[in-house]
Amino acid sequence: MEKKVEKVKSVKGELRVPSDKSISHRTVILGSLANGVTTVKHFLKAGDTLTTVDVYRKLGVKIEESNGIYFIHGVNLKGFNEPEDILYMGNSGTTTRLTFGVLAGLRFFTAVTGDESLRKRPMRRVLHPLKLMGAHVDGREKGEYLPAAIRGGNLRGIEFFNEKSSAQVKSALLLAGLFAERRTAVIEPVMSRNHTENMLKIMGADIRHEFSEGGYRVEIRSGKELKPFDIDVPADPSSAAFFVAAAVIVPGSEVVLKDVLINVTRDGFFRKLKQMGANIEYVNHREEAGEPVADIVARYTPDLKGVSVSKEEVPSMIDELPLLALVATQAEGETVIQGARELRFKESDRIKAVVENLRAVGVDDVEELEDGIIVRGKKRIKGGVVDSFKDHRIAMGFSILGLISEDGIVIKDADCAYISYPDFYRHLESIIER
Ligand code: S3P
Repeated sequence: MEKKVEKVKSVKGELRVPSDKSISHRTVILGSLANGVTTVKHFLKAGDTLTTVDVYRKLGVKIEESNGIYFIHGVNLKGFNEPEDILYMGNSGTTTRLTFGVLAGLRFFTAVTGDESLRKRPMRRVLHPLKLMGAHVDGREKGEYLPAAIRGGNLRGIEFFNEKSSAQVKSALLLAGLFAERRTAVIEPVMSRNHTENMLKIMGADIRHEFSEGGYRVEIRSGKELKPFDIDVPADPSSAAFFVAAAVIVPGSEVVLKDVLINVTRDGFFRKLKQMGANIEYVNHREEAGEPVADIVARYTPDLKGVSVSKEEVPSMIDELPLLALVATQAEGETVIQGARELRFKESDRIKAVVENLRAVGVDDVEELEDGIIVRGKKRIKGGVVDSFKDHRIAMGFSILGLISEDGIVIKDADCAYISYPDFYRHLESIIER
């Protein structure tokens, strides 16, 4: 489906964007490992997280929905079933990589595949350490790509340096660590999103972390029974980011985003916008299920300034960097994003997608780096046709830029927004003033 987004007068209103994708995935995956029933309010019903529900059902977990609440009937570490067929992971890197961690601990055989985009995404980063722990794994191109297969069991703990600070890799190893002999430790140069650790703590796992000069270290020991939990999932900062960006760049705008997760491993985009001078505030701070939450008020800011993003800052805003580059077109001076080569291995090559699409809408003063992007502002957005590369975050980001474009922006395959935000275009429409 193609979608055209045209220039608007302003955006105004209040939204509760859908729930956090990372936490929603983890409620199902970790809830499945618990001894009892986990209840989840505000579970994100979107493409990726429904893939996780489907996969855990196929592994023998009963998952029901009633009156908007999800009930995950955990089977403990030993109650999973060998799936009868290949598990289909759709577009979801998180489902795939975290589930490999669980499967590494289970003595049966599982084959895994995904859609065209997922079959191009690197898997050795997780399969290799799981192999070091003792799992039998293989996959296409020497274990780099899906389809891949795994037979788990007999794991021993390892100490692993997670060079890319990937939360998916860290989570997979911590999950495998629940089944492994002795202890499993992961060290990261910069702490990546820590929802797996937070949830495992609530569940009573033997897990501890520390910060040192080398970065962040988390260690887990097997043997503790995991307790089920009740959770109300906060709104996803990665989804709220689109409307915060819209409010900041569209003249005369003010938008309130309710119940947004502001965990420091996730809110780097908002902090970076503040550094650019954006008029953003957190109000009504509170805590939900061990995670900090606030409402965000964002207003039009005519005098944004360019900024730089360093390697250390990347993990806390990894999924928002394409959007930051788009906002940077409206800031005075240069914005330099570096140390973000990981963007090339997301649902699309997001560096290439941003640079090509910016040129397609009339922004020429943009440079593609091997590990980032340079944007020079302030630029008018002429408009034109962009390719989402079937990547939800690229589709939604360029839709926001469409709001200030002279001739409108047409987004190809815009319906891929359903991967994380099925109601995105409806919500966008609800805050537009023409
Ligand atoms: C995620 C981790 C990040 C992020 C992805 C979700 C998670 O990926 O980009 O959207 O839920 O653990 P990496 O682990 O590859 O950095």
